[in-house]
Amino acid sequence: MRDQVYNKAHSHIVDFAFTKEVTEVFPDMIRRSVPGYETVVPITGLIAARHANTGDKIIDLGCSLGATSQAIAAQTANDVSIIGIDNSIPMVEGAIAANADSRIAFIASDALSENTLEIAQGARVIVMNFVLQFCDPRSRSSLLQGLYKALAPDGLLILSEKVRDESDAKHRFFDETHLAWKRANGYSDLEVSQKRTSLENVMQVDPEQVHLERLSSAGFENTDQWYKCMNWASFLAWKTTRTS
Ligand SMILES: C[S@@+](CC[C@H](N)C(=O)[O-])C[C@H]1O[C@@H](n2cnc3c(N)ncnc32)[C@H](O)[C@@H]1O
Repeated sequence: MRDQVYNKAHSHIVDFAFTKEVTEVFPDMIRRSVPGYETVVPITGLIAARHANTGDKIIDLGCSLGATSQAIAAQTANDVSIIGIDNSIPMVEGAIAANADSRIAFIASDALSENTLEIAQGARVIVMNFVLQFCDPRSRSSLLQGLYKALAPDGLLILSEKVRDESDAKHRFFDETHLAWKRANGYSDLEVSQKRTSLENVMQVDPEQVHLERLSSAGFENTDQWYKCMNWASFLAWKTTRTS
């Protein structure tokens, strides 16, 4: 369904949330809003599937409607267990309704809860695609520390985020280019500006260097940035240093 959430003037812009209305248009919204989404999701699936063996557990944290969970499943014939977790009930309900793969389960839980860490315990791969940016900045380090501890000894975290360039001029350049790309994808000036206002308080982005340092501080021995498109990036963090 076409995303028209912000196409009429709102008298008061409320903070963005993953509501039922957003859930219904989410695939179209994210495809037209996040540069590289259509590359990051299938390649995340490929990397996660290559890292996991039969019997392994893979966590898709902040799974929304399960696009990444489905991409992982599509890349492996192994009998893995893929668990998508999200704190939005409409998203989890939508993901369950669309799923036909018995290797995938979807669960409603908050990324910051003990319950989520228990579910993630022993996972070979944890994916967090475009989710940390919605978590309170003060909780980001402890969340990553928790995920580090939950991962299996040779576990891998795949983290994708909107990022902020440390140079203001470069940040502005990519930011303005991103908005132009949204307009080229059919969003009007009104939609672009109302969505931006709605995200102001709920999406706070960090520079790439902050992500890499935070991952190292959480304990990850080996980190890499495998993807970047304008102000959107994806990182790999291995719990232990690769020997091959
Ligand atoms: C941009 S979407 C993620 C897209 C998804 N990973 C994908 O690849 O299609 C962000 C998702 O994170 C979820 N989310 C945000 N904060 C969360 C939290 N604290 N715990 C669990 N899920 C959260 C939202 O409900 C939303 O579905």
